[in-house]
Amino acid sequence: MQSLSLLSVSVVIVLAVSYSDAFTRNDFPKDFLFGAATSAYQWEGAVDEDGRTPSVWDTFSHSDNKKGDGDIACDGYHKYQEDVKLMAEMGLEAFRFSISWTRLIPNGRGPVNPKGLKFYKNLIKELRSHGIEPHVTLYHYDLPQALEDEYGGWINRKIIEDFTSFADVCFREFGEDVKLWTTINEANIFAIGAYSEGFLPPGHCSTNTFVNCSTGNSSTEPYIAGHNLLLAHASASKLYRLKYKSKQRGSIGFSIYAYGLSPYTNSTDDEIAFQRAKDFLFGWMLKPLVYGEYPDVMKKTLGSRLPVFSEEETEQVKGSSDFFGIIHYMTVYVTNSKPSPSLPPSNREFFTDMGVDTIFIGNSSFFGWDAIPWGFEGVLEYLKQSYNNPPLYILENGLPMEHDSALQDTPRVEYIQAYIGAMLNAIKNGSDTRGYFVWSMIDLYELLAEYKNSFGLYYVNFSDPGLKRSPKLSASWYSGFLKGTVDVASQDITQSQSNFSGSSSL
Ligand code: BGC
Repeated sequence: MQSLSLLSVSVVIVLAVSYSDAFTRNDFPKDFLFGAATSAYQWEGAVDEDGRTPSVWDTFSHSDNKKGDGDIACDGYHKYQEDVKLMAEMGLEAFRFSISWTRLIPNGRGPVNPKGLKFYKNLIKELRSHGIEPHVTLYHYDLPQALEDEYGGWINRKIIEDFTSFADVCFREFGEDVKLWTTINEANIFAIGAYSEGFLPPGHCSTNTFVNCSTGNSSTEPYIAGHNLLLAHASASKLYRLKYKSKQRGSIGFSIYAYGLSPYTNSTDDEIAFQRAKDFLFGWMLKPLVYGEYPDVMKKTLGSRLPVFSEEETEQVKGSSDFFGIIHYMTVYVTNSKPSPSLPPSNREFFTDMGVDTIFIGNSSFFGWDAIPWGFEGVLEYLKQSYNNPPLYILENGLPMEHDSALQDTPRVEYIQAYIGAMLNAIKNGSDTRGYFVWSMIDLYELLAEYKNSFGLYYVNFSDPGLKRSPKLSASWYSGFLKGTVDVASQDITQSQSNFSGSSSL
């Protein structure tokens, strides 16, 4: 990897200029896992090859108002060996990827596709043979279109059984070699984006705040979908624990998108809004998983729009997650938004229910945002204090830049090192964080920006039919950090510490 080692020279210079307190990989526990992530639709391509059928994401990306799709993406389906080699050269200890449900079970339920099975077995074998730990996400936005068409996907309880059967196939077929399972990718943002605001697949909404949707009910569907996501997770987790765990010895977790939050002013209104934001954004999913019930403020605000767990379901959901997967990118101020008394419940959506406005801290765009590492540290501290210090894996963290910007992605290097430094502080303060994955291992089809921006450690030339990969400065930096060939400095993140961590909502 001559190109990687050449780039390392400039990494040392960047770091020496910018920072003072050094930390190294060895400051983290030995069994801590540092890796990078992708997801099936964003990385694999080969969407209609070898028996795969469309998911709702294929349909969504091909719908009228979208440009770009994951039909080819980085062609990970064919290039997985090359990519695993790059991961190994970088020194990655773990790789997070997701399984395309319709590649494995093309009709959503029923027969397993032998070619899909073979692909994931080969990928996992390839990772293991390079000493890279697989971390598998079962659901990353790509519901089989067949199930959406048949009964409406996540807003129908039938999904629980089908998701559990899909998980069963994955545990049975891959569980010998996979010890870390995340059932659902960022379930809270998925329920909001897909069923309240319509900007994520399958694109349901009724208030048309962000996009115009042809179907949906923003006042009820996000909560129904959220409820079914929790039940589907709990059901898969129960199955794993009963049938596989004692033999396979893995763990199973649920993941959420976690904004860093800070009250905009010290007014009582903003302080209360801050509590509400924590309850709606974190507590919605985490309270049932840890304490067996939805937050009181959600019950009160939503009334009959919030589904109710039966006693049996409460027992099944509570304690069903061995760890939480945390997806963190940015920190926002929250301020009270005045409730609009004239807004009938049927015209509400998640954000009007939450009654909070968010304001980005610093600059933010599709092409990057300011690093606010104290916001991340605050999230980890808050989870420790309010949710019994659960084991955590940071499943995604990273910085987007314009895709065609230079390979010298210095802002990304600075961002990642600042966030790793913040995580180290949290761990020293007792957070049980066990792993960290950069989003993304490689440039890929982006969720909201197609190919215009990218988060990759590796650049992909999407105009080249061979989709040539080239290491960015960030790949070199991460490699140096993991191999211990560079000392990394942490930013002074205590200076602008928010009170996010201090005021627990419980
Ligand atoms: C999603 C990814 C996405 C990334 C960057 C995450 O919340 O899980 O699929 O590409 O954000 O937008």
